[in-house]
Amino acid sequence: MRVLKNLFEKNKQWAGKIKEFDPDFFTKLSKQQNPEFLWVGCSDSRVPANEIVDMMPGEIFVHRNIANLVIHTDLNCLSVIQYAVEILKVKHIIVCGHYGCGGIKAAMDNRDHGLIDNWLRNIKDIYRFYQDRIDLLSEEKDRIDLLCELNVVEQVANICHTTIVQRAWKSGQELAVHGWIYSIEDGILKDLDVCTTNLDEISQTHRIG
Ligand code: CO
Repeated sequence: MRVLKNLFEKNKQWAGKIKEFDPDFFTKLSKQQNPEFLWVGCSDSRVPANEIVDMMPGEIFVHRNIANLVIHTDLNCLSVIQYAVEILKVKHIIVCGHYGCGGIKAAMDNRDHGLIDNWLRNIKDIYRFYQDRIDLLSEEKDRIDLLCELNVVEQVANICHTTIVQRAWKSGQELAVHGWIYSIEDGILKDLDVCTTNLDEISQTHRIG
């Protein structure tokens, strides 16, 4: 299986199906992308951005990493946000977490996971911040799921605190940052109701200029 022939066959069928529906689909798309959405999600194979919201190629600009984190020194993630906001001029940034996230689970235990512990450290900080509230829950599953939600809330704040998003808002650009969570168990999305659309909604400490 050196060349994964089956995947190339599947690819041909997939492209064929799309062309059957719209013969010019790929020609049109090859000229430009014009997505309205930037999706920041988990790398988990069960949480594919386009499929969940039933969108075609060209409709969502995507960044995924373990536990959908937006770290203010992560040049990869920040570059994606900058390109999406300043060049593509997306109107919505969606942080989408999911219940039962392996990254969140790993951050809550005390085992040695190797290199990834440096990444998970960011989640441990969030846990420490909300520990009183999380530890009130008796079931481990509920504690993990609450941290999955709180992690999304924190990442929405991290995005809003970037100079990129603040500058966009200051210049009058229309941009909303949303926090959602997805259930792998039933395929349903939930809005965490933390949508932020302007500078007045973010903490004074993080405001620049
Ligand atoms: Co995950």
